[in-house]
Amino acid sequence: MTKLSVNINKIATLRNSRGGNNPDVIKAAIDVQRFGADGVTVHPRPDERHITYADVRGIKPIITTEFNIEGNCREQKFVDLVLEVKPHQVTLVPDAQGQLTSDHGWDTIAHANYLREMIALFKQAGIRVSIFVDPVLRMVEGAAATGTDRIELYTEAYARQFAAGNREAAAAPYVAAARRARELGLGINAGHDLDRFNLQYFHQQIPFLQEVSIGHALICDALYLGLENTIQIYKRQLIS
Ligand code: PXP
Repeated sequence: MTKLSVNINKIATLRNSRGGNNPDVIKAAIDVQRFGADGVTVHPRPDERHITYADVRGIKPIITTEFNIEGNCREQKFVDLVLEVKPHQVTLVPDAQGQLTSDHGWDTIAHANYLREMIALFKQAGIRVSIFVDPVLRMVEGAAATGTDRIELYTEAYARQFAAGNREAAAAPYVAAARRARELGLGINAGHDLDRFNLQYFHQQIPFLQEVSIGHALICDALYLGLENTIQIYKRQLIS
């Protein structure tokens, strides 16, 4: 089964636009799980413009599924937060300061020593580690050498090509990367720009995916379709 982890950053963004506590991020985390999500993802950034560090601490106790915290481990504040909160999984992303959204995977060869150290730190704390990578065989092989438990395939390129009508070509590098990762004993997650149109095909090509994390498109759909219905629609894309 491929798990759907719902990224609730956008709910915090909406709240932050007005001050106050509407919508309530903790309630949203409770509700996405009640509506069928298999996990909750948050991506705290150093400027706390979406999810705040206080949100992350507040969400942990209400998790009944899986808690995934994504972020840039070059920020000591992020590392301290993850070690304090101890989510089920940390996903390490090579974001630069002030980046709008994640837009590249790790160079697992150039940063091999650094990644090995960080991954060992989180694993010693009992936290599963996933690292964000592009669908490039060398990067997947490099990832396996870092000791990470999983990789998260960065799916923006897939989404773009899928939308342009080239679905086989869009999926091909991901299928190759996922097969190689599996051969090397790595677990495989995927995320970024997945939506209710491109998700099913991606899953059909890589049925052994362990988890997808989806935020932007799912929360946008929820405005029209409702959060519970939307989560159920996304879950159905992962059945076939
Ligand atoms: N995975 C990572 C590493 C991300 O940074 C993001 C965006 O925060 C996502 C997945 C989810 O992407 P989207 O919001 O496009 O679904």
